[in-house]
Amino acid sequence: MLNELHVNQIYRNLLHGQWVESTSGKTIAVRSPVDDSVVGHIQAMTQSEVDQAIADTKVALKTWALRPMSERADILYRAADLLEENADEIARIMAMEIGKTLPSSQNEVIRSAEFIRFTADAGQNIEGETISGDKFPGGSMNKLSIVTASPIGTVLAISPFNYPVNLTVSKVAPALIGGNACIMKPPTQGAISALCLAEMFRQAGLPDGVLNTVTGKSSEIGDYLTTHPGINFINFTGSTKTGRHISGLAGMVPQILELGGKDPAIVLEDADLKKTAQLITVGAYSYSGQRCTAVKRVLAVGSIGDELARYLTLEVEALKSGHPMEEGVTITPLISSEAADYVQGLIDDALAKGAVLLSGNRREGNLLYPTLLDQVTPDMRIAWEEPFGPVLPILRVSSAEEAIRLANESQYGLQASVFTNHIDKAFTIANRLEVGTVQINNKPERGPDHFPFLGVKDSGMGTQGIRYAIEAMTRPKAIVVTIRPELVNPVEDTPVTEGQGESEIS
Ligand code: NAP
Ligand code: G3H
Repeated sequence: MLNELHVNQIYRNLLHGQWVESTSGKTIAVRSPVDDSVVGHIQAMTQSEVDQAIADTKVALKTWALRPMSERADILYRAADLLEENADEIARIMAMEIGKTLPSSQNEVIRSAEFIRFTADAGQNIEGETISGDKFPGGSMNKLSIVTASPIGTVLAISPFNYPVNLTVSKVAPALIGGNACIMKPPTQGAISALCLAEMFRQAGLPDGVLNTVTGKSSEIGDYLTTHPGINFINFTGSTKTGRHISGLAGMVPQILELGGKDPAIVLEDADLKKTAQLITVGAYSYSGQRCTAVKRVLAVGSIGDELARYLTLEVEALKSGHPMEEGVTITPLISSEAADYVQGLIDDALAKGAVLLSGNRREGNLLYPTLLDQVTPDMRIAWEEPFGPVLPILRVSSAEEAIRLANESQYGLQASVFTNHIDKAFTIANRLEVGTVQINNKPERGPDHFPFLGVKDSGMGTQGIRYAIEAMTRPKAIVVTIRPELVNPVEDTPVTEGQGESEIS
């Protein structure tokens, strides 16, 4: 099913329903972070090819925006089915391309198929509204605003390496159901998995040009894309650094930015510490910590520090490290040696400043063994920076008040967890945390994907989550009708002559 996508592992770009090679004659090798093998080559597109891809969406938009919602939904349902049918093949590519374990890669693809279906359902259920003018003082009930959702135009979907299918689909599917066209710019590492997704939409019958893909070096086409006058909406997920850069260039083009995080797990003295340690470990180390919603610091309140550290150590020591295709593995090689160097730098800094190593701090190439640090203090970089790797710092705090202060002092505000058996305390703390979402007695996580998902401060702007994303990538279109009953003769049911019966408020 994926044969048309590539010739001898040279992957091409989707343009007007065809997979085409770049005229640049240049390709980029995508190498596996696991063993440096070549997963495939992707095209290094030129700026004029970017122009062509965007111009093509403009033609396609004219008819796509007018297709009945039920027809758009049918195409999405077919794409979801195809994605599910090809889940295993795509997951195997993903596992090697980004070093994600095979079960997690499979989950990501299946979750994405479900995301597409739910989006199609949500699109079918979107209703406009009719607003009567008389709700506003001095207004008239003879004035009605009929509000429907209009597409915004061409949406630029830029996704990160860590969820190349799910975080592409979370932009593309809501954009398409809303009647928009899409330019899909996948991460270089992860591009092949994302191109497979585009192929599913093509095979599902998405009209030519409604979805075009663009690959290439961000240094050559990144700024060109984000400042292109043909782009009407930017939907970006990635690092705060890149998000800030894009936002600075984008001017008045509306955007959603999903960026970095430093999610704290605040553990109160009355929490079930064993269960808490299990949840925190899954939260911190799955996909080797390369998740925006990973637990990135533990704030242990009061006297529980030693016991929590003991439970966490047991959990972390039980994690298996290795190859993504190996059964039972959680920790796999990080996406690049630069990423591993960065995480190692944070660990070294913390240890040099007096942190206590409870587990890990061992490295083989890009593979960093799960590392747990205790007695971390605010002067250490790991207390504030996002590692995006398998390292978890424990900060001991004297009170819930101090935990809230430290949580809120972060530049980030994605999610936070509060572990306690006391619901009043949980809500009191949750209400004071400056984040998009607070999880009570659970690890931070994005799903289920119809929940609102957002970051505050440097963690982003705008809201994802299926309905929210559709709303963000459509705009209200209001058509105002002024009914003039005085222009109709109610007895004879014929219009009265012009000028008769004009009301004062029109
Ligand atoms: P990244 O380096 O910022 O890259 C993200 C995407 O932006 C990639 O497709 C990248 O393409 C592209 N890009 C880079 N420079 C660009 C430019 N000048 N113009 C246009 N596009 C450009 O992030 P990453 O390393 O892939 O992902 C990890 C980060 O994403 C972490 O900070 C994580 O917290 C964050 N993240 C946040 C969320 C969330 O929902 N809040 C979810 C997942 C990840 P290339 O690959 O070609 O450079
Ligand atoms: O990396 C960011 C993802 O949106 C997180 O999703 O919480 O399901 O792992 P997740």
